[in-house]
Amino acid sequence: MPLVNLFGSKGRLVLSALLICAIIFELAHCQKDTQEQRTTPGRKLKTSKPKLGKSTNKGPRAVTSKSKLKATPAPAAQTLLTQVLNRGKFKKVGETISVQTGDTLELRCRGKPVQWSVPTYLEDDDDGRLRIVQQDRYGALTLVNTTGADTGEYTCYPMYCEDSDCRKEYDKAVKVFVFFPDPQELFVPTSDYYEVIQLRTNWPTLLPCQVTSPEAKVTLHREYPPVEVAVDGSEISFNVRKGFTIHRPRPYHAGALYCVASLGNLRQSSTKYMLIYVNYPMAPPAPVIQASSSSVAVGENLRVSCSVVGEQDVVIEFTWDYPGQEIGRPPYTKESVTPVGGGEAQQQSQSVLLVDEVRDVDQGTYTCTAQNLQGAKSVSTTVKVVPKSKPRKP
Ligand SMILES: *[C@@H]1O[C@H](CO)[C@@H](O)[C@H](O)[C@H]1NC(C)=O
Repeated sequence: MPLVNLFGSKGRLVLSALLICAIIFELAHCQKDTQEQRTTPGRKLKTSKPKLGKSTNKGPRAVTSKSKLKATPAPAAQTLLTQVLNRGKFKKVGETISVQTGDTLELRCRGKPVQWSVPTYLEDDDDGRLRIVQQDRYGALTLVNTTGADTGEYTCYPMYCEDSDCRKEYDKAVKVFVFFPDPQELFVPTSDYYEVIQLRTNWPTLLPCQVTSPEAKVTLHREYPPVEVAVDGSEISFNVRKGFTIHRPRPYHAGALYCVASLGNLRQSSTKYMLIYVNYPMAPPAPVIQASSSSVAVGENLRVSCSVVGEQDVVIEFTWDYPGQEIGRPPYTKESVTPVGGGEAQQQSQSVLLVDEVRDVDQGTYTCTAQNLQGAKSVSTTVKVVPKSKPRKP
C-alpha cells in the first residue's frame, strides 16, 4: 500500500505543509538551541534486543530475577510495596515518590516470587545499575547512581505458580511512579531530536514529555506560529506522570509542538513532536458485493462490484479473490470514489472486477475484501457459468 494512501487528500495537504514548515522550524530551532543550550545526554532508547523471556506489548517490560521460580502458592496477603530508606527504615509507597538523583532507589515487594517492570530504557540499557533479587518473602529492586532518566513507573507483579508454571497476577500489581528530580534535566531525555506522532480522529494522543520533577511547571507550545497552546483540561490535559493528552484530535491540532518546563531559574524545552493528522475511520468498512448476474453464459462479460459507503477522506483498499485466479487470469479492476449526498459527509468507494468473455473456469465464488486503517471485511457472491445460449432467430 503506498504510504500516501494513509492520508486522505486533506492529510496530504497537512503533510506537505508540515514538511515545508519543518524546514522553517529547523532554521528557527538552531537559533533557539544556542540560546537555551539544551543538552541531552545519551539515553539509549528503542535499541532493545529482547533479553529476558518474552516481552509482550510495548511499554515497560518485565524483569525476572535470575533465581529459579519455584512452585509456591500465591501469597494470600495483599501485595505491598515499600521503599527502603537508609538505616533499614521502611516506608509504604503511595502513587508517586521522589528520589534525589544520585541516590539509591530500593523497593521491596512482598510475595514469592514477584516480577518487576521498569522504564523501558532501564531494561534496554543494562549498565549494571539495576539489581533484582528474590528473597524468601519478598522481591527487592535496587537501582544505584540514579539520574533523571530513570524517572518512570516501577511495577511489582506477584506471581501465581503451579509447579514451574508461573503467571503474573495483573490485578494484584502494585505500581509506583518514581521521580528523580534532576537539577540539570527537567525532561526525561530521549534519543530523538523529534518524534512523529499520528493524530487519529477521535483517538486520544499523548505527547509524552515526561518531567523528572513533579514540581516543574509544564506548558505546551506550538512552534509555528509560536504560541502557547491552551490546556483546558478537557480538550487537552496534562498529567505529570505522562505528558499532554489531546483527547479528540482534530486537523487543527496538527503541526510541530513541544513542551516547556520551568523550575526555579531553569527553563527547558522538550523534544519536538511532529503531529500529523490522519483521518482515522470509526469502524472497519462494510462492503456490499453484487454481480451483474448470478448466471452468465460462456462468452459474455461479467462485472462484480464491491462498494463501501463510509466517512469522507478515508482510504479503502480493495482486494479480490476469484475463480479465474487459479488459471492466472489477471485481475482487471476499476476503482472509484464518489461523494454521497446527505447530512454527514460520506463517500462511496467502489471496486469493480471485470471478467471479459467468461469461460467455464470463471464459475465459483467471488470475494471482495475491503480494508481501512481500522480493519478489513470480506463479502462473497457466487456466479454460475452456463453454456452459450443458442443463436436466436433473427
Ligand atoms: C556508581 O557510582 C560510583 C561513583 O561514581 C562508581 O564507583 C560505581 O561503580 C557506580 N556503580 C555502578 C553500579 O555503576
